[in-house]
Amino acid sequence: MPKKDRGSAVRLSRLFASALLAGVGLALSYAALPASVQHPVALATPAAGAPTGIIAHPAAIASGHPLATRAGQEILAAGGNAFDAAVAVSAALAVVEPCCSGLSGGGFYLLHRDADHLDTVIDAREKAPGGATRDMYLDSAGKPIPHASTGGPLAAGIPGEPAAFEYLARKFGKLSLKQSLQPAIRLARDGFPLDERIHGVIGFKRDVLLRSPDAAHVWLTPSGAVPDAGTIIKQQQLAATLEALANDGARGFYTGHVAQDLVAGVRAGGGIWTLADLAAYKVVERKPIIGSYRGARIVSASPPASGGVVLMDELNILSGFDLQKANPALRKHLVIEAMRRAYRDRAIYLGDPDFVQIPVAMLTSADYAAGQRGSIRPDKAMPSEMLPGVEEPSSGPHTTHFSILDAAGNRVAATISLNLYLGSGFMVPKTGVMLNNTMDDFSIKQATQNAFGLVGGTANAIAPNKRSLSSMTPTFVETPHGVMIVGTPGGSYIINMVLLGTLNYLDGMSAADIVRYPRYHHQYLPDEVDYEKGALSADEIRTLEGEGHQLRESSRQWGNMQVITWDFASGRVEAASDPRGAGEGLVY
Ligand code: DON
Repeated sequence: MPKKDRGSAVRLSRLFASALLAGVGLALSYAALPASVQHPVALATPAAGAPTGIIAHPAAIASGHPLATRAGQEILAAGGNAFDAAVAVSAALAVVEPCCSGLSGGGFYLLHRDADHLDTVIDAREKAPGGATRDMYLDSAGKPIPHASTGGPLAAGIPGEPAAFEYLARKFGKLSLKQSLQPAIRLARDGFPLDERIHGVIGFKRDVLLRSPDAAHVWLTPSGAVPDAGTIIKQQQLAATLEALANDGARGFYTGHVAQDLVAGVRAGGGIWTLADLAAYKVVERKPIIGSYRGARIVSASPPASGGVVLMDELNILSGFDLQKANPALRKHLVIEAMRRAYRDRAIYLGDPDFVQIPVAMLTSADYAAGQRGSIRPDKAMPSEMLPGVEEPSSGPHTTHFSILDAAGNRVAATISLNLYLGSGFMVPKTGVMLNNTMDDFSIKQATQNAFGLVGGTANAIAPNKRSLSSMTPTFVETPHGVMIVGTPGGSYIINMVLLGTLNYLDGMSAADIVRYPRYHHQYLPDEVDYEKGALSADEIRTLEGEGHQLRESSRQWGNMQVITWDFASGRVEAASDPRGAGEGLVY
C-alpha cells in the first residue's frame, strides 16, 4: 500500500474502532440515562433552555414570507409572546403564502416555554375523515387511481391549523386569539402585492386552479391568466372565515356556518367530510423526542411527525464516528449511510401513535443505533435492498416553516402545510379556504410511492380519523453555549436537511451559512443519493461512486429553511431565511 494510502487507512480504522467501541450513549431522554452508558463525546447533560444570568437578547422571527414575519413582529410589539406571534405568523402565511400552508392545513408546533422549561409539541396534523377507508384511492382492480389522493376534495384531511391557533392562544399566549389574528385579517381584507415566488407557483398550477371557480376568482384574472407580480390580491371570503375564528374561536371554524359551508363545498366536489368530523377535531399535545448528540440536547417533533425519531436515529448512528476528523467524502458517505438506515425505519415502523404501536424507545436508543452503525462499511455503499425488512413504500410535496424567539427566551419551531403546492388546488365556495391534500401522506397501497417517492408500511395505512405520517422536523438544538431553532419544508427531504443543519450548527456555522448550505439526501428507497448542484465536489463524487453510491444531481433546489441562533454569552441572535425561498429573518 503506498504510504499516503496507509495513512488514510489508519485514520479510517481509528474512526471505525471508535464507532464500534462507542456503541452506546444516546437515548430517548438524555437526562434519564445512567452515566455509565453515556457516550464519551456527550460530557455534560446540556441544560434545558438558557443558563440563568445570561445577558439580554433581542427577539427574532424567520419565516417564508416577509409579510408573515412582519405580522409576528407586530404582535410581539403589542406585548405578545412567541406563542401569540406563532398564531399571527401562521395566519398571515395562510393569506400570503397559499402554496404552502393554510386554514385547511395542519402541522406541528414545537414550543419551549422558558419560565418552567417546558418543551412540548402541539400536534395539529390533519386527520382522515371518519368515512375514510384503507383502499379509498384504489380502483376495483386494486390499482391506485391517478391523482385521487392529491387532487380535489377527496384528497383533503380534516384541518388542524385553526384548532392549533385557539390552543396556542388560550394555553400559552398573552394576547387574545382575536388580537393575534388581526394582521392576517387585514392582509386578507385589504390585500397584499403578489410576489414573484407565488406568481410562479400560480403559473405552475394554473390548470388546477381553473377547475376550482373560487380559487380561480382569487388567484387568476377574469380571463384565467396569471396576474402580474405586484397585483394586489384581496381575499374577502377568507377574511370573513378568519373573522369567524377570531370572534368565536375554533368553534367559529369547526361548527356553525363556516363548517356547514366547508362540508357542503367538499361534498359537492366529491369529498367525504361530515359536520361530525369537523366538530370532533382536536389538537393533541405530545411529548417531544429528546436526545443528545455531541453534547447538544436535541428536541424535535414526535409521531405522527417522523422527523424527531428519524433525526435522532441518524444522529445516534453518527455519534460513534468522529465526523470532524473524517475527510469530506468519508463524512458524506457516513451521513448518507445513516440517512439510508433511519429512513428504512421510518418506512417500516412509523405512523399515527394513536393507532399503531411505535417502538420509539428502541428506534432512538444508543444500542439500536450501534447495531445499525455496525453494518456500515467505510469504503462501500450498502444497497438498500440488503437491509432486512423492506416492506412497502409511503407518504408525500409544499409546506412552510417558521422559527420564533422572544425576549423572554420562549421559542417556537413550527412546520405547517397543505402538503403539495396549493394543496388540492380546490377552494371551498364561500369560505376562501384552499383544501389540503394531506391524505397523500398515507400509504395508499403497499409498495406504492406517494408524491415524494417515500415508501411506507402498514403502520401508515389509511384508517378513519387517523393522522397520516409526516416528515416535518421542527427542532431545537441546545448546547451549553446557545440554541438553534430550525425547520424547513421539503417533503421527504425535510429530515435530512435538518440533520445537515444540526451537524453544521454544531460545527460552528452561522445561521446564514446553515440555510444556504448545499444539500444531499438519501431516503432508503429509491436507493440513490440526490444532491443539489455544488453539494458534492468532483473528488467526493468520484469517491462516493467508487464506493457504490448511485448519485443523481437534482435539477432543482430543495427546502426553505428558517433558522434562528442565539449565543448565550454574547446575547447575539441571528435570524436567517433560506435564499432558495423569498422569506425574511428579522432580529428586533
Ligand atoms: O407532512 C409531510 O411530510 C408533507 N406533507 C410535507 C410536504 C412538504 O414539505 C412539501 N414541501 N415541499
